[in-house]
Amino acid sequence: MYKASDDRYEKATIRRAGNSGLQLPGISFGMWHSFGDDANYAASREVILKAFDEGIFSFDLANNYGPGSGAAERMFGEVYKADLKPYRSELVITTKAGYHMWPGPYGEFSSRKTLMQALDISLERMNLDYVDIYYSHRFDPNTRLEETASALNDLVKSGKALYIGISNYDAAQTAEISRYFKEMHTPFVVNQVSYNMLNQSVKKDGLLDEMRNENNALISYGPLAEGLLTDKYLKGIPDNIKIHPTNDGIFANGKDTLVAKLNELNQIAQNRGQSLAQMSISWLLNDPTVASVVTGASKVNHLEDNIKALDKIDFTADELAEIQRIVGKSVK
Ligand SMILES: NC(=O)c1ccc[n+]([C@@H]2O[C@H](COP(=O)([O-])OP(=O)(O)OC[C@H]3O[C@@H](n4cnc5c(N)ncnc54)[C@H](OP(=O)(O)O)[C@@H]3O)[C@@H](O)[C@H]2O)c1
Repeated sequence: MYKASDDRYEKATIRRAGNSGLQLPGISFGMWHSFGDDANYAASREVILKAFDEGIFSFDLANNYGPGSGAAERMFGEVYKADLKPYRSELVITTKAGYHMWPGPYGEFSSRKTLMQALDISLERMNLDYVDIYYSHRFDPNTRLEETASALNDLVKSGKALYIGISNYDAAQTAEISRYFKEMHTPFVVNQVSYNMLNQSVKKDGLLDEMRNENNALISYGPLAEGLLTDKYLKGIPDNIKIHPTNDGIFANGKDTLVAKLNELNQIAQNRGQSLAQMSISWLLNDPTVASVVTGASKVNHLEDNIKALDKIDFTADELAEIQRIVGKSVK
């Protein structure tokens, strides 16, 4: 029988989401596309439990994570039932609804009916009574934000979610839905968005400022830009690399230019005694508005590499300026 390591909280780096009561590990464990129907259960279980032993007590899911809709939730639910159930009160388990699940009007987006039904189905798949954060996974252009906010608020009242998050909402959408949440005293705490050294659109859009000014937090997903910000592609980027749509702009100046930038960034990382992956995660956590970085590592050695990022999240002003020069953005 699994027993969690006794020193897991000595290893953990814990951060507060804004000025809320929600505290998260600096790194959260993401289950987007490596824990689906084609994943090996034993290998998945091993990396999930390794994460928890290392002080990563937050597991990030969504109803559509797979491959195979619902598959990642089912996988997590199996590991939860077999191993993690005794630790339920320690875990921050999050899920989302909004992307396509089934045909028809209620299989996606953010109507009251979609969000409420989806959470019931997610809870059943994961063998849970409640989630710690329930997210509206994307802005719904055809549903009033007030309806989405009120559905999420009612889910908190029902006890099925403790905190509310939004994901992929821009600054203006976040400001509007925040107003409804405030009126209802909804425990809205985080916006989970694509953010990494190569994709800093959350700064241009004003979202980072919006979250900071409201004492809310940002959760960064895709911190390594599909592995580009690791040592995998320092010699070249293959033609068949799959990139998340939010990172599309990364290749704007061609792959050779990007490879040169990655090598320059890697040099800074080495000077800091870090791998490029570690520096990329540390760079995000250098900002206290970023409560947690959700990584998608599905291999134990990648997880171990990434965790070391938590040991060195301070940067000198020169390092920060140099990174911005390389990635081609002005210093904030
Ligand atoms: N809210 C949203 O709309 C949304 C969208 C996308 C993602 N997310 C969340 O964010 C999580 C992370 O997203 P992501 O998968 O794009 O994250 P990511 O961590 O930036 O990229 C994951 C990729 O990087 C590789 N990798 C990780 N650590 C590495 C290391 N140290 N060295 C070399 N390669 C490494 C992984 O390989 P291995 O798998 O082989 O370890 C995987 O191919 C998702 O699982 C999900 O929970 C949310």
